Amino acid sequence: MRVRGTALRKVIYLLGVPGTGKSSVGRELVRRLHGELVDVSELVVRKGLYTSYDRENATYVADVPRISKLLAEKASSSNSSLVVSSNFAVRAPGARDFAVFLLRCNPLVLMKRLSDRGYDNKKISDNLIAELVGLSLDDACTTFGSKNVVEIDATKLSMSLIVSCIMDELARGDDAPRGWIDWISRLEGNPALGDLVLFISRHSSAPGLSSVRHRRHRAQASLKRRGSLRRVSAP
Ligand SMILES: Nc1ncnc2c1ncn2[C@@H]1O[C@H](COP(=O)(O)OP(=O)(O)O)[C@@H](O)[C@H]1O
Ligand SMILES: [Mg+2]
Repeated sequence: MRVRGTALRKVIYLLGVPGTGKSSVGRELVRRLHGELVDVSELVVRKGLYTSYDRENATYVADVPRISKLLAEKASSSNSSLVVSSNFAVRAPGARDFAVFLLRCNPLVLMKRLSDRGYDNKKISDNLIAELVGLSLDDACTTFGSKNVVEIDATKLSMSLIVSCIMDELARGDDAPRGWIDWISRLEGNPALGDLVLFISRHSSAPGLSSVRHRRHRAQASLKRRGSLRRVSAP
C-alpha cells in the first residue's frame, strides 16, 4: 500500500529528549514505511562521530558536521525513507523532502522512564528540565524552521497510534492544527509538579525553579518571534 504523500518524504526526523519514545516509534515507523532507521546516538558512538567526551555529564559531544554529512550520504544513496532518531536536531543538508516530528512526554511520566533506564539523578534532572521548558522544541525550530516541526504528545498514546498520527500527518501535508506543548501550564496546580521541581533543584546543575521559569520564558519569547507550531494531539 502506498500512503499518499509519504513517497515524497525522504527523510523523517524523530526528535525528543531521551525516553520520549523515539526508538520505539522509529522501529514501528520503518516497518510501516519499509524504510531505514538511523539512531544518531548509536551512530555517534559506533562511528566515533564525536569531538570529545564530557565526563561530568557522561556523554559524548557530537560532531554535528560529520553526522550531517553521513546523513546526507545515507539519504542520497537509497530510495526508501530514512528515519532519523535523535536527541538533538541534526539535519541532512541537501535533503529537500523531509518531515520533522518532535515527541513530547509528560515530565512526570518521563521521570519514571528515565529512572527505569538507570540514569543517575543529575542526568534525569537535566533531561526533565529540557522537557519541562521545551528546549528540544526550541532546538528543532532553530534547525528546521517552526513551520516544519510537528509536536506529538506521545505520553498516553500506543505505539501504533503514534505511528498512525505520523502517517496521517505525512499524508495530510500542511493542514495540521497549530499550537505547542507547555508542560508547566498544563501541570500548574498539580501537586506533583512541586515534587518534580524540588527533585530537579536538588539534583540538576541548574539552580531550581527560578531557572526553569527563566528558561521557559526565554523559550516562549523565542517561539513567539518564530511564529506558531504544528502539533498533533490525541484523537
Ligand atoms: N507511548 C508510550 N507508551 C508507553 N511506554 C512508552 C511509550 N513510548 C516509549 N515508551 C517506553 O519508554 C521507554 C523509552 O522509550 P524509547 O523508545 O527507548 O525512547 P527514546 O528512544 O526516545 O529514548 C521504553 O521502555 C519504551 O517502551
Ligand atoms: Mg532511543
